[in-house]
Amino acid sequence: MEKREQLYEGKAKKVFLTDDPDLLIVSYKDDATAFDGQKKGTIVGKGAINNRMTNHIFRLLEKEGVPTHLVEELNDRETLVKKVEIVPLEVIIRNFSAGSFAKKLGMEEGIKLACPTLEFSYKNDDLHDPFINSYYALALNLATQEEIDAITKYAFTVNDVMREYFAGLGIELIDFKIEFGRYHGQIILADEVSPDTCRLWDKETHEKLDKDRFRRDLGNVEDAYQEVFRRLGIQ
Ligand code: TMP
Repeated sequence: MEKREQLYEGKAKKVFLTDDPDLLIVSYKDDATAFDGQKKGTIVGKGAINNRMTNHIFRLLEKEGVPTHLVEELNDRETLVKKVEIVPLEVIIRNFSAGSFAKKLGMEEGIKLACPTLEFSYKNDDLHDPFINSYYALALNLATQEEIDAITKYAFTVNDVMREYFAGLGIELIDFKIEFGRYHGQIILADEVSPDTCRLWDKETHEKLDKDRFRRDLGNVEDAYQEVFRRLGIQ
């Protein structure tokens, strides 16, 4: 597969065209941002960890019936993926209170919710990714009802699969954010699943093993990413 010119550079990844119009190459960076890009830094080794972790989880999800954009891991940092049109919704699932949910509802972090929640944010940094519901998504033509139904179904499956998988690694899946794309009329899982996009706490110690260490200046950021990667047991 021939790598062609850069199509786009995001906060954590670069995207390149290929000689196949249906396929792109994503290249994961060590760059980290928080608070809509206001806070900037580097997490050494993050790009390779997030690339390999995402692909590992996406393979697992494919087996459980969730279609993904994954085609082939090319090297430590780069993966060949299907070229999708991203649905501009951040889909967030929560199993425990944390982050903006805890703040908004005046709760401590780490309280188990009676059932998982799903919420949408409109993907727009200038507006700080505002919280919206499915009626807003329809009214703004961000997605159709059929697409929202598929996204909702897949998102809860992703949660079931990942929660069980991480539990086996001694990790509590607190919450996560995923994104979907349109590929030849079908909704498929795109973007990434990594410590950048999930809250992962050690089940025993409740130590944070995710990007909150960077967002909140908790220290040992690289160690946390490496610990998650080590537990995945990928060779
Ligand atoms: P929140 O509690 O800040 O709303 O975050 C919920 C989850 O979404 C958490 O696992 C972190 C993830 N997330 C992203 O992946 N990107 C973002 O821009 C934000 C704000 C959160």
